[in-house]
This record gives sequence, structure tokens and C-alpha cells, in this order.
Amino acid sequence: MRISFCCTDTASEPWLQGLRAAFPDADVSLWEPGAPQAEYAVVWAPPQQFFDEQAQLKAVFNIGAGVDALLKLRLSPQAKIVRLDDAGMSVQMAEYVCHAVIRHFREFDAYEVDTRQGKWSFRKPRTRADFPVGIMGLGVLGARVARSLAQFEFPVNGWSQSPKAVDGVRCFSGADGFNDFPTASRVLVCLLPLTPDTRDIMNLASLSRLQSGGYVINVARGAHLVEDDLLALLDSGHLAGATLDVFRTEPLPAGHPFWTHPKITVTPHTSARTLRSESIAQIAGKMACLLRGEAVAGVVDHLRGY
Ligand SMILES: NC(=O)c1ccc[n+]([C@@H]2O[C@H](COP(=O)([O-])OP(=O)(O)OC[C@H]3O[C@@H](n4cnc5c(N)ncnc54)[C@H](OP(=O)(O)O)[C@@H]3O)[C@@H](O)[C@H]2O)c1
Repeated sequence: MRISFCCTDTASEPWLQGLRAAFPDADVSLWEPGAPQAEYAVVWAPPQQFFDEQAQLKAVFNIGAGVDALLKLRLSPQAKIVRLDDAGMSVQMAEYVCHAVIRHFREFDAYEVDTRQGKWSFRKPRTRADFPVGIMGLGVLGARVARSLAQFEFPVNGWSQSPKAVDGVRCFSGADGFNDFPTASRVLVCLLPLTPDTRDIMNLASLSRLQSGGYVINVARGAHLVEDDLLALLDSGHLAGATLDVFRTEPLPAGHPFWTHPKITVTPHTSARTLRSESIAQIAGKMACLLRGEAVAGVVDHLRGY
């Protein structure tokens, strides 16, 4: 069995070592143009040439949860595309989003400014019920984030494509559900996959329908958010702030207004990182299932786009 590794911007040697340890009988090698045909591949942002040449792939494992970049390529039609599901990412996402929500709700950002100036001053406690959090996407990551926020006793709303039931979460679904979901939410968290249906979903119209003093947390993909619309609503005062981990152009370009905007917190696409050993263990488990002819979780539906 031959496994080809083709991951852009990834230190390949530790992955190759881990994959070789997990598949001692396989030929695991770094892809280069003209490489022999492989049956399986482990990829992140591969070039089109990889799929043009590797015509016999049975399954392609993407070492991330989002497959929007991969689905832009012409893929080998017979190859299953398998994404990571969780593999240590959901707890990181829960940490990131809970931190952002709590920092905003408890005004820890304002306390930090005060205490750096030597000021010992209290702010009036705010009421949790006034900060309902709406999570767009109730998949592997969104559902974990929703349950974590519910543990902190925030009112939590969730929106997904198909109807869902998540303990402690008021669930909305489909286009109809999107009528009431934003108006029921003050903090908006995006954990959707990027598809033609979800591109630009956070725009002037939808963000205007958040409750007044709204707050936006984007941890999915930069193209979910219309950046100028966010800036306009921050300037008008309808939105109180935003924590953004993903951007339409990454790295965020020098001089972009988000870098220095007083109401925006920027992080460099780091909310949930791919963890190598967890990912290799998951890929090994899924590959063993596929070899036995069993179904695996995380197979991408090309029509849905995720
Ligand atoms: N910033 C980072 O570091 C980072 C790290 C990992 C992932 N991500 C992003 O997070 C995204 C979500 O990951 P995941 O593993 O949670 O994905 P997932 O398990 O596939 O969940 C996606 C969720 O979005 C919902 N959805 C999709 N299209 C929709 C639509 N048109 N309307 C309403 N709901 C829709 C799905 O609804 P159904 O349940 O009904 O299908 C599902 O609940 C990834 O695609 C990626 O872009 C970011």
C-alpha cells in the first residue's frame, strides 16, 4: 500500500515519521511531481498537479476540518475525501469561543485597560440573560462550543441546515430558521463550513438583525464575513465589537483596518490547530475501517460542499 503525503506549509518529516509508525507495512512518502501512483493520500492545500497525476487514489485525508479550498480543485472522481472530525480541535474551539464570549461579557478587556493605568474601579455586573449567544453551525465544532457555553449558563441558540436537538440549546434550522435566529441572539459565533450558501452570510442585513450591542466571533472562514459591513455596524454603534480568527486574505495584510480597530480583537487563524498525533491516530483508524470495507465519519459530500 502506498500513501502519499502532500501538505503545503507543513513540516513534513514529523508527519512522515508518525504515518510510517502508524502504517509500518505501507510505503509512506512525500509527494513530488512524477511520484508513483498511491492508493491513499494525506493532504493540506495540495496543488492541482497532485490530483492531475494521482489518478488511482481511493481516499484522500484532509488534515483539517474545512475542505473549501480542496473542493475548488478538480479531484479524482473515485477518491473519497475524508476530513478530520474533532481530532482535538473541538476542545480548542470551545476554549477560544468561551474565552471571547466571557472576556466581552465580563468586560475583562476594559478591566485590563483600567488596571494597566493603575485604576481600581468596578463595573456594574451584567446579566447573562441579556447576552444570548447564537452559534451558526451545530456540527462537530459548533455543538461542542454550544454545550460549553450552556455550561456557563449563557442562553444559547444554534442554527444548522437540518433540524438538531442539543441539550441546553434552542435550535433553529434551514432558511426559515434564519428568520428568528439572529434576532434571538446578541453574540454571533460563526462555525459554518464555507460553501456557496454560507459565503458572505455575515453581512449588513444579517448583522443588523442581531440584538443591539451585538458582538461577532468568526472562527470559521474569512469569506463568511463582509468586512466593510462589520466596520459600518461597529461605527454606527449597533455592534459593540468582534473577535476574529479568520480573514478574507490571510495573513491579514499590513495596514488592514482590523489590526488597529479599538473594537476588534485579531488572532492569526489559531482558534483550533491541527494536532499531529491525534490526527494521525484518527487517519489510521479511518483507513483501517476503509480497508475492512466499513463506513467512516467525516466523508465529504461534494454536493453539499462540506
Ligand atoms: N479557525 C480555525 O482554526 C478552524 C479550525 C477548524 C475548523 N474551522 C472551520 O469550522 C467549520 C466547521 O467545522 P465542523 O467540523 O464543525 O463542521 P461540520 O461538522 O461539517 O458542521 C457544519 C455545520 O454547519 C451547518 N451548515 C452547513 N451549511 C449550512 C447552511 N447552509 N445553513 C445552515 N447550517 C449549515 C451544518 O448543518 P447540518 O448539521 O444540518 O449538516 C453543520 O451543523 C469548518 O468547515 C472550518 O471552516 C476553523
